[in-house]
Amino acid sequence: MTKKEKSSSNFDGAILKKSPNQTSSIFERPDGRKNTELRPVWAKVGVVPNADGSAIYASGDTIAIAAVYGPKQMHPQHSQNPEKGTLRCTYLMNSFSVNERIKPGPNRRSMEISKITEWALEPVLMLKDFPSQVIDVHINIIQADAGTRCAGINAASMALAHAGVPMKSLVTSVSAGKLDKTLVIDLNKEEEDFEKGEGPTDIPLSFTADGKLTHIQLDGKISPAQLKEAVEMAKESCKEILKVQIEALKNSVGDEK
Ligand code: CDP
Repeated sequence: MTKKEKSSSNFDGAILKKSPNQTSSIFERPDGRKNTELRPVWAKVGVVPNADGSAIYASGDTIAIAAVYGPKQMHPQHSQNPEKGTLRCTYLMNSFSVNERIKPGPNRRSMEISKITEWALEPVLMLKDFPSQVIDVHINIIQADAGTRCAGINAASMALAHAGVPMKSLVTSVSAGKLDKTLVIDLNKEEEDFEKGEGPTDIPLSFTADGKLTHIQLDGKISPAQLKEAVEMAKESCKEILKVQIEALKNSVGDEK
């Protein structure tokens, strides 16, 4: 099946069927994943030789590359903060990353995601150790199938570690979601566009290695009880992603940056 055919397929999701023991319902996902199953994940660091640190992170058809430059003196001088360093993230979705070409350059969405990425990562950085300096993180989405902000955060966190920026922990991000009434993890674009029943709810979350939340967003409707459950599901999934991040960093030991 080509990518075009795949993205235009009609996921009607109505497909609430009984489990074999007939006691609970199972939501059939378009790609056949279990509710708590991540898309295939892979990662590698050291992919941009000129950067101080870099990483690529892929979740299914979503691929993010992050490159870190710094810490370095902040210019212009009036932007410097003498109290602490500045984390400056720039998220960019490439024109060719989706089927319908997008206009190049920054827009409201990319500015929001850049800010969110900074907020997700700042709690693990010792910015006080870098007064008047800046750490630049450039995130490029080279292929998008939903969850790009989470993929960007995962790549950025690895790239910061690869650059040797002092960190209290890696940050790991995933999107939890609700399709009609059913909670699922790591929504793809087809699921994000699901319109039956209560429709889709998208909840991107980021955690430190010891499970502290550094970022949560919510687009849609969900009850407090289900939100709690979604947070726990995401926390569990992030443990799996964290292993991939750590493995990629370990594999880079001894490599030239
Ligand atoms: O990517 P993420 O889920 O973090 O953010 P979103 O704004 O909810 O976008 C969801 C998905 O919509 C993206 O990952 C892309 O697949 C798609 N999208 C698009 O096709 N064109 C855009 N201009 C923006 C997003």
